Amino acid sequence: MNDIFAEEVTYWQRLEATAHAIFSRYNFHEIRTPILEETGLFSRAVGETTQVVQKEMYSFLDRGGDAVTMRPEGTASVVRSYIEHNLAAADGITKLYYLGPMFRYERPQKGRLRQFHQIGVELLGVDSPHADAEVIIMLDRFVRALGISDYKLEINTLGVSGERKAYLDKLTTFLTGIAANLCAECQVRLTKNPMRVLDCKNETCRHHLKTAPLILDNISDATRAEFETLKTCLKSAGVEFTVNPKIVRGLDYYEKTSFEFVSDKLGSQSAFVGGGRYNSLVKELGGEDTPGIGFGMGCERTVMLMQEADKEKKAAAVKGVYICVFDENGFRVGRDVLQKCRDENLTADMDFTVKSLKSQMRRAGKFGFSHVAIIGDDEIKNNVVALKDMASGEQKKVSVAEMIVTLKTA
Ligand code: HAM
Repeated sequence: MNDIFAEEVTYWQRLEATAHAIFSRYNFHEIRTPILEETGLFSRAVGETTQVVQKEMYSFLDRGGDAVTMRPEGTASVVRSYIEHNLAAADGITKLYYLGPMFRYERPQKGRLRQFHQIGVELLGVDSPHADAEVIIMLDRFVRALGISDYKLEINTLGVSGERKAYLDKLTTFLTGIAANLCAECQVRLTKNPMRVLDCKNETCRHHLKTAPLILDNISDATRAEFETLKTCLKSAGVEFTVNPKIVRGLDYYEKTSFEFVSDKLGSQSAFVGGGRYNSLVKELGGEDTPGIGFGMGCERTVMLMQEADKEKKAAAVKGVYICVFDENGFRVGRDVLQKCRDENLTADMDFTVKSLKSQMRRAGKFGFSHVAIIGDDEIKNNVVALKDMASGEQKKVSVAEMIVTLKTA
């Protein structure tokens, strides 16, 4: 559970402000639900056999003896509130979003916390690939508006329950055949929730799962047509995606469209958004039969990507040279070179005293200079500088005149 302060807070403020601005443009409205809910809500919504419900919930009896849980996710709470307050709009379409802390007792690691935050969206009342597209397109625009560009959208369809049953039989037969090769966790998943096996990160399991039957090959024409419509809508909105037939999601309420936004920059916890369609959840929780689609964005992971993007932007921010020297002799030559650069209208800088090369390089990086010119004894003797291109890392010895030409044409 993290404190968030100093410079990091400004990223959170930008993240939240951008969410409010973009979601309201798509006519979504904010909802705030309590952090504590009845424990039964999550076991019913998220699923008795899921990892979240079995191992990760912060649940306790309150002073009145009621079993309560600190919400591990937002969809169940929003649907509970939707039913309780009859939030279905007159035309049947309800568009909601929320921001706030969620709690899961997971093993902490980079990008995985026990108190984390989500920005979530739920669109209730429409079962159409156009609704799926609207949610995903809005999300894609949101992520781009945050300055994040190094990510991938992966989509899949999980079919509907009838199709899933036939598929599950096929999958279970396949998995039973390779059970001896699966990890201990997958042995349990096989009996409780076989589709989750497809999501296992264990290398041996992955190897044996290569030929597993996929839900995509086992769906009806109608479901396939909807998936194709979604793909067409995304393409025409300029949203790039790949189909990943192994996306199964960790919560039980999903069917049809499911998706994740992933980035290599996050390490093993690569998904910074997860979402999908849940057409039975409202009914299962006691409401009218109402379809829904939504997503949850992990704020901590998204902030990491925003910071990463800023670092890269800064790295390419200044076209110019930072001059680094080793001693007083180098300092005198360096100051002359510095002035020549500035007289040539180039952005250039160096320190006012001789510091360690490391600290000079750090300063060059901080301001995002595209080049660094290093001037040591050898360079002075040969009347050159060692010019380093910070983006490619390439370094070569050039005269000051050549350096000026390089910088002007960079
Ligand atoms: P989820 O995939 O469980 O989906 O979580 C969504 C996102 O929350 C993940 O992609 C991840 O970025 C972030 N997240 C989850 N657990 C942690 C953790 N322990 N530490 C840091 N970040 C975490 C849901 O929660 C669904 N309610 C999303 C949804 C809304 N589906 C439909 N509507």
